[in-house]
Amino acid sequence: MTNILVMGGAGYIGSHTVRHLLDRGYGVVVADNLIYGHREAVDERAEFVHADLLDKYSLEKLFQNNHIDAVIHFAAFAYVGESVSEPEKYYFNNVVGTINLLNVMQMHKVGKIVFSSTCATYGEPQYTPIDESHPQCPINPYGRTKLMIEQIFADYERAYGLQHIALRYFNAAGCSSDGKLGESHSPETHLIPLVLKAITGERKNIKIFGTDYDTPDGTCIRDYIHVEDLAQAHRLAVEKAGVYNGCINLGTGIGTSVKEIISAAEEVSGKKCPVEYAPRRAGDPAKLFADNRRAKEILGWTPAYTDIRDIVKTAWNWEINRKY
Ligand code: UFG
Repeated sequence: MTNILVMGGAGYIGSHTVRHLLDRGYGVVVADNLIYGHREAVDERAEFVHADLLDKYSLEKLFQNNHIDAVIHFAAFAYVGESVSEPEKYYFNNVVGTINLLNVMQMHKVGKIVFSSTCATYGEPQYTPIDESHPQCPINPYGRTKLMIEQIFADYERAYGLQHIALRYFNAAGCSSDGKLGESHSPETHLIPLVLKAITGERKNIKIFGTDYDTPDGTCIRDYIHVEDLAQAHRLAVEKAGVYNGCINLGTGIGTSVKEIISAAEEVSGKKCPVEYAPRRAGDPAKLFADNRRAKEILGWTPAYTDIRDIVKTAWNWEINRKY
């Protein structure tokens, strides 16, 4: 059996990937420091280890005690705004933490890694849809940490033969179709859960950040990709890393505006969403959506969820019956 270490496997995308791997017959060890992750989100079929990328001793023990064939690495701080006010935390945890992980992998002869990268590595888009050759000029420390890690992988490949795929996600969205796993951030900053909380009354309203963008309805356009489609892509990437090394976009290729998300949420829930118009949020590009041809060609991946209402429906099922 192939054993995969999932670093950050108690987080949103990590926990869905863990379950997908187990369903496909992989052995899974989950390591998480539980700062943002949820212990309840870890499938009970997986082995769980409390470990932190900055604690070399806990990493060393993790690799000594478990046979590991490949690593999927989700463990990172991922709040764009916080990365601007506290860059040290981001460079240290995300970049130094990943170097620690790569070095312990090397000591234990584990030569394959699949990594959570982001469309934030592109920065302000020069054209859409964004393909992998688009220039990478991230506009915040969070995006820069992810770009640095991609570059470190390329250097480790040249020097040590590391097999690596960095998956550049667009906007991860939705929850597991059976309602068992979902999105739970504290604080929550993402559009879809905030819209749903405005509908349930947990929040007063949803602030629409900017209505004067150069888009058909004036609100920002993003590419929302279902978390289970992301999970599947990680499994395919583990199977392909080495045959292909490099980066791959993960998005549906479809752009959806903030107003369209709110309409979809109203349709799915059958309730009105209270809205407030607010100024633009700093650093938000008008339009981001993926050219996903490389994922299709190299991974043989196609997203199962392409209708935004189906994605929002899974998030709504979770929101009204959340487990954590
Ligand atoms: N938005 C609102 N109101 C809110 C929250 C968001 O109008 O209360 C808008 C944003 O302006 C943006 C869209 O909804 O246009 C989506 O915003 P999110 O915060 O949900 O997602 P982002 O596109 O900002 O961020 C996502 C990932 C980040 C990643 C980034 C790359 O969550 O991790 O894409 O650009 F860094």
